[in-house]
Amino acid sequence: MATRHFLTLMDASPEELSNLIQRAITIKHALKLEGPTYTPFPNHTMAMIFEKSSTRTRVSFETAMAHFGGHALFLSSRDTQLGRGEPIGDTARVLSEMVDIVMIRTFSHAGLESFAAASSVPVINALTDDYHPCQLLADVMTWTELRGSVKDKTAVWIGDGNNMCHSWINAARQFGFRLRICCPEGYEPRQDILAAAGDSVTLLHDPVEAVTDADLVTTDVWASMGQEEEQAKRATAFADFQVNEALLDRAHDDVLFLHCLPAHRGEEISDTLLDDPRAVVWQEAGNRLHAQKALIEFLLLGNVEEGQ
Ligand code: CP
Ligand code: NVA
Repeated sequence: MATRHFLTLMDASPEELSNLIQRAITIKHALKLEGPTYTPFPNHTMAMIFEKSSTRTRVSFETAMAHFGGHALFLSSRDTQLGRGEPIGDTARVLSEMVDIVMIRTFSHAGLESFAAASSVPVINALTDDYHPCQLLADVMTWTELRGSVKDKTAVWIGDGNNMCHSWINAARQFGFRLRICCPEGYEPRQDILAAAGDSVTLLHDPVEAVTDADLVTTDVWASMGQEEEQAKRATAFADFQVNEALLDRAHDDVLFLHCLPAHRGEEISDTLLDDPRAVVWQEAGNRLHAQKALIEFLLLGNVEEGQ
């Protein structure tokens, strides 16, 4: 059987993704009731390659493997041979000889694809410049937990047409909700990713118009990792795109606010937005653990029947 990788949300079918979300909710409930008693992967190892910083992604994958009875290895490009120029394909072949699954956070999505092409064990995208699919698993899980099926609902992305925005576009396609993207001129998502979504995604430039009657609103930092030198220019371009309580008031009464975090208060969100009851970002962050457990299980075992 060909090795399954998870490089974008398009690497699983809509049905597989829906099952995965339900499975994540089941795994979460079992953990809360019984503690980490479900240990399907004793002595299994996950290599975690980080070429960018992380808090949530590292802690959630490492905890997931510990709960599962396995172990995770933190590999920074600073202290591995990757950082000294060992070819990515060679690294993939070597790791495939030793570990059961690999997670990578890196800059180039093409580099991630090269790694996966050479890997005989599953590879998970833990963020590239172009996509952040693991975050969307946690985001859709959170939305589903709190509001039921997301099908035919309306989500709004305010801000940069970045890696998170691209994964929201893919999520709209795969989970069947509508997505409005609202960004400054010149900061739109990639045209090919947008075009592939057809009429489930619309592009706007007015935040008030975008959030009117929305079921969910989300945003992200104005300058992503690797864009630090653009921070000042972006702060000017995005000044009218802050999400605050008054903007959320334009949405449905039961609107939810998500943010992948880390957040910059006073920039893409108001100082107090994360204290508003409509913001569910701590639950969202915690769901990284449960959603990624379901993902690891799916890649190593296939869809697992409920009841396990
Ligand atoms: N949201 C997210 O991926 O957070 P980290 O950068 O802390 O992993
Ligand atoms: N767009 C952000 C997401 C961080 C989780 C970045 O790439 O830095």
